[in-house]
Amino acid sequence: MAKLHVTTTVNGDAVEFLCDAEQTLLDVLRDELQLTGSKEGCASGDCGACSVMLDGRLVCACLVLGAEAEGKLVETIEGMASGDELHPLQQKFLEHAALQCGVCTPGFLIAAKALLDRDPDPSETEVRYWLAGNLCRCTGYDKIVRAVLDTAAEMRGS
Ligand code: FES
Ligand code: FES
Repeated sequence: MAKLHVTTTVNGDAVEFLCDAEQTLLDVLRDELQLTGSKEGCASGDCGACSVMLDGRLVCACLVLGAEAEGKLVETIEGMASGDELHPLQQKFLEHAALQCGVCTPGFLIAAKALLDRDPDPSETEVRYWLAGNLCRCTGYDKIVRAVLDTAAEMRGS
């Protein structure tokens, strides 16, 4: 079957790619655009390791078709830092040792940023609910939640 030609924006850059009609956005990011930060944990929308932003909405890239990125804005973990300067969430994850194997980390960071962008002062319960769609097999979640709350406090200047 003929490939689809898709024109989109990824992390602020205009991007074009060819994909199969059934190819997921996650596969396009990883296999066609070599943006391998987004991970595949389950490929069924259950783990959040593939979380990206699509037109400002948090989505599982494994549940979105690559063709659906046409004309949209895609933000991935590769766009989170500013050059050599880590995003405050990335810095706090390091300070709190909020990762072990790291497979879940890009998804947690994207999801946590989406939360703090809409609510700069979430409660611990809100953080835990918001991140309920992101699974981690290593850390036990407490360090992740503390890193997010610490980031929020720092970004508020408190
Ligand atoms: S790989 Fe997409 S939710 Fe698990
Ligand atoms: S750090 Fe290993 S799955 Fe989360």
